[in-house]
Amino acid sequence: MVFRFSDCVHGAQRDIERQIFLPTATASRYASDMRDDIEKILFHEQTILRRLDELAADITRDYTDQELTVVAVLNGSFMFMADLLRRVPLPLRVDCLSVSSYHGGTETTGVVTFDQIAMPDIDGRHVLILDDILDSGHTLHAICGKLRAETKPLSIKSCVLLRKLKERAAEAEADYVGFDIGDEFVVGYGLDYQERYRNLPFVGVLRHDVYAGK
Ligand code: IMP
Ligand code: MG
Repeated sequence: MVFRFSDCVHGAQRDIERQIFLPTATASRYASDMRDDIEKILFHEQTILRRLDELAADITRDYTDQELTVVAVLNGSFMFMADLLRRVPLPLRVDCLSVSSYHGGTETTGVVTFDQIAMPDIDGRHVLILDDILDSGHTLHAICGKLRAETKPLSIKSCVLLRKLKERAAEAEADYVGFDIGDEFVVGYGLDYQERYRNLPFVGVLRHDVYAGK
């Protein structure tokens, strides 16, 4: 078989086209499916990533030369965690906690369930909890309480992508905040309603009629 440079170039071009055009096709499907359930987009992906650059710079500055473990709260913070931490050039450790407090609706039940028994190994380390959103405060309050009761970290701070501006039902504040928002139910960029919408690349307000009466 004769090797032709032009075949190679065309092959490479097809690969590039696949990389470029597949996501675009996916993005256009959002428009006709999940996107229709969104009342308005609050933060586009580029806006989120620009803000993550700033948050990452703050975290990097504050934890330089410290033994840091990041504890991400799943599932909601998976996208936030991935995009934020690749911007933090520190030799940190990552651990995850799985909790739930919504149990399917759009209002927290106030009962925070820990889906695993073992707590992360954070004795003698600085801990930064990452969560998608601070709403009633129950989740962050319960996690900080449990970590303090069952482990011996040097410090515990928290970082949330979104903070709802409202009165908290439980004592909890975030040390690093991506964006403040109103008291609205939002989805996308990791946040769900009944486990849907997590893979939307933006944060948007869910249309009320999607969940009203459910
Ligand atoms: P909190 O315990 O009420 O502060 O709520 C924290 C958890 O509830 C978050 O980690 C989310 O999983 C979920 N949550 C709160 N508000 C929203 C929302 O607007 N959309 C989706 N999930 C939310
Ligand atoms: Mg959730």
